[in-house]
Amino acid sequence: MARKPIAVDALTQSEAAAELARLAAEIAEHDRRYHVEDTPIITDAAYDELRRRNDEIEARFPDLVRDDSPSRRVGASAVAKFGKVQHRVPMLSLSNGFSDEDVRDFVGRVRRFLSLGEDEVIGVTAEPKIDGLSISLRYEDRRLTQAATRGDGAEGENVTANAMTIGDIPRVLPPMAPDLIEVRGEIYMSHKDFAALNRKQTEAGDRTFANPRNAAAGSLRQLDPKITASRPLRFFAYAWGEAPALPGTTQMEVIQAFGRWGLPVNPLMTLCNSVDEMLVQYRRIEELRADLGYDIDGVVYKVNRLDWQQRLGFVSRSPRWGLAHKFSAEKATTILEGIDIQVGRTGALTPVARLRPVTVGGVVVSNATLHNEDEIARKDIRIGDAVVVQRAGDVIPQVLGYVAERRQADSAPYVFPKVCPACGSHAEREERTTGKTDAVRRCTGGLICPAQRVERLKHFASRNAFDIEGLGDKIIEEFYADGLIQSPDDIFTLESRDKRSLKRLKDREGWGEASVRKLFDAIDARRSVALDRFIFALGIRHVGETTARILARAYGSAESFRDQMIAARSDSGEAWSELNALDGIGAVVAEAIVQFFDEPHNRAVVDALLKHVAVTALEAQSMTSPVAGKTVVFTGALERMTREEAKAMAERLGAKVAGSVSKKTDLLVAGPGAGSKLKDAQKHGVEVIDEDEWFRRVGSP
Ligand code: IVH
Repeated sequence: MARKPIAVDALTQSEAAAELARLAAEIAEHDRRYHVEDTPIITDAAYDELRRRNDEIEARFPDLVRDDSPSRRVGASAVAKFGKVQHRVPMLSLSNGFSDEDVRDFVGRVRRFLSLGEDEVIGVTAEPKIDGLSISLRYEDRRLTQAATRGDGAEGENVTANAMTIGDIPRVLPPMAPDLIEVRGEIYMSHKDFAALNRKQTEAGDRTFANPRNAAAGSLRQLDPKITASRPLRFFAYAWGEAPALPGTTQMEVIQAFGRWGLPVNPLMTLCNSVDEMLVQYRRIEELRADLGYDIDGVVYKVNRLDWQQRLGFVSRSPRWGLAHKFSAEKATTILEGIDIQVGRTGALTPVARLRPVTVGGVVVSNATLHNEDEIARKDIRIGDAVVVQRAGDVIPQVLGYVAERRQADSAPYVFPKVCPACGSHAEREERTTGKTDAVRRCTGGLICPAQRVERLKHFASRNAFDIEGLGDKIIEEFYADGLIQSPDDIFTLESRDKRSLKRLKDREGWGEASVRKLFDAIDARRSVALDRFIFALGIRHVGETTARILARAYGSAESFRDQMIAARSDSGEAWSELNALDGIGAVVAEAIVQFFDEPHNRAVVDALLKHVAVTALEAQSMTSPVAGKTVVFTGALERMTREEAKAMAERLGAKVAGSVSKKTDLLVAGPGAGSKLKDAQKHGVEVIDEDEWFRRVGSP
């Protein structure tokens, strides 16, 4: 590619639409070269990159997913080769509408095109838009002779042998059916069958499917019909292709005839006589969506009279007589089956909605965040409610609210637990210094709480902390449950204990000699660690990476940090003021750190860790600079650098930057307009220099 593509999160809606169109065409062309001509012109990696970009854009703009999107043509990159089928009547797609206005415009267009008067009733059918893959079934002399996928609309794949294995598809039509007809409709998979299939795939170690549509497509496009037969595929008939003798003169009549012939037709199809009636149907179907047991992504409207359909004809690749009124791709309604309370590293209790699985924007969602206690109360969300779930981009799905009309009479407001579900300790909401109560309820169990301990261990080993490769969340949970790792220092004795143990790690399920060696090597590689990582890894509340870095710079060594934090609680106030004087450390953070060290168990963990790991000071080379180890305060207007730059430079050179002047301050860099800090410095006898002198000393421009 000559030009660098725009980052996905920088794309506007219209750029995204154009990009998806381009990608659809480009990927289709590569598919054709690969499958038809067997002469691919790009590498597999480049091809995967195109598909990945397509997926990313679709995840951000679910409303823009095209009917001919590569993500809907599942299996295109599989090696499957089916015979080709030319569709005698092309299989086209519907144009999409997203708003009530779009529906009004659709009916208005039909009225104008047919020159119908304002009071002439236009009958329109409304039915669910099934989210599966379309198929054309050819019946000759009432026998199923050919089944073909849509493909590019003009030419599809011959999947007759596979379609024959689907129970919903009759192999023979009754005598009342005509000699020749192509029945068209949707192959899909129910939620229940999808879940069971994925369970089976997992057990067999095979790949799982992201959603029922992919599962249906993957199951139909199997070279071995026996595999298709083992997959629970379903079918709805809703249209037709070649059909010289139709059993009716309206859409409704033909579909009802299909039903009488034993073809499955959707029971929710209705006839509407106005835009308002169409919109009522749309909302009714949207409400039923969660209980249908299969995925739908909108409502399809079709002009009922076939002679009018005939006159309306097509514009480019879509019929003028039809419209797909899509549901918002990011939202879906489902049932709240329960509320789980998760306990985080710092004891925060987080409510998580357990949902009846629902596909939102192409992904099956079964959990969503409920934020906190107040949010549940404010929205009055109750277990058993039908709730609206939203999933936008990559953020965690959230519950927006409940559907009032569907609330059960016997439902009761949700009572948030007052004790920790993991350890039974009292859970409380802290008073903030502002007088407000914290939104988060916290377990007070500290390290006696198993949930907090496990979360702390995960944090300890995580990427920005000790970064122990191979010691991921799952393994930590297992090792914790089996008593192998209870506290961070246990990680560093794992190997020596394993040598003496009767139940060796290498004998565990899923492990072996090599993987155990790899883990031990990864642990050994972290027996030396930088001080800021060490501090961050402790998992002290409010101490993120930036704060950890400030503390590491200020205290220089793990021992001094520990000693000073212990002193901050008990000494005359010096250590406490020094901590508070650090730029970037507020009272809340300082309090959290001191509290952490006040807890004997935490001190024991730090001491035990220090026996196993060598903690290295930050940027040891900076200790040679003339300001290394000095406490510096900047005040007044700086002219050659911003305050941020000044601070970063001083820290880089090994100095501590404080926000206020005390007798511990070594140097005050004062610009024009310096006020009270300058006076304080004079009072404490602190050296005062100007900006130019600062640069002379540190040797920069
Ligand atoms: S009618 C000329 N009815 O949606 C198109 N299509 O973009 C006639 N679909 O490819 C199609 N449910 O795969 C029709 N009730 C329904 C449908 C439906 C799902 C799919 C179908 C089609 C796409 C249209």
